[in-house]
Amino acid sequence: MPALIVGNWKMNGLGEDIAEIAAMAGSSVRNLWVAPPFTLVDRAVIVAAGAIKIGGQDCHARDKGAHTGCVSAAMLADLGAGFVIVGHSERRRDNGETDADVRAKAMAGQAAGLEVILCIGETRGERDAGETAAVLTAQLAGSLPEDSNGLIIAYEPVWAIGTGLVPTLADVSAAHAHVRSQLVARYGPAGHGVRILYGGSVTPANAGDLLAVDEVGGVLVGGASLTADSLLAIATAAP
Ligand code: PGA
Repeated sequence: MPALIVGNWKMNGLGEDIAEIAAMAGSSVRNLWVAPPFTLVDRAVIVAAGAIKIGGQDCHARDKGAHTGCVSAAMLADLGAGFVIVGHSERRRDNGETDADVRAKAMAGQAAGLEVILCIGETRGERDAGETAAVLTAQLAGSLPEDSNGLIIAYEPVWAIGTGLVPTLADVSAAHAHVRSQLVARYGPAGHGVRILYGGSVTPANAGDLLAVDEVGGVLVGGASLTADSLLAIATAAP
């Protein structure tokens, strides 16, 4: 299975930045997905022309209704998006999203036919207290959807996001092995088929090493995903 390279643009990108997605789509790299802000999904789908998959950074748990300012998974699918990120730590922190909320969003994404990237990860304090495995276990127990259709997990230590700090490769390996064991415990053999991404300060310089770690099936990239040059350099660093 070739590594999957996913860019999360967060709250970045105006119309002119669509040129970056066009450049990504124009390359020969075919394992790239990008989640631009909602405002660019429509245009991104058009310039991606099927060469790279475009997704949303969040969705509401319901498919429609009186939820001002929210976007449903069905709306993303309607635009031609192919995936949605749920449970990013910035959503959990800034919008108070709980594991139960994340689970509902994940299931909404699946119901709309999207692949779902579900994010989990420990804080610095939790890691220092030796609680990483317990935190991941609890987050998975609370947020995994009923079945694993189209499910991808992103392990993103909160303290590594946007900080330039990255866990040791041994720590990444241990966390991914733990996530895998939880997925198999939950879904049985199907748990082996769920891809696990690493996220947090991935750059062209460290991507090769991270992608070589056992059970790292790809990376979720924030800051270094904003230009085609940078994201393509990460993609070509895959072993
Ligand atoms: P970063 O963000 O690559 O800028 O650390 C990763 C993420 O939040 O997905």
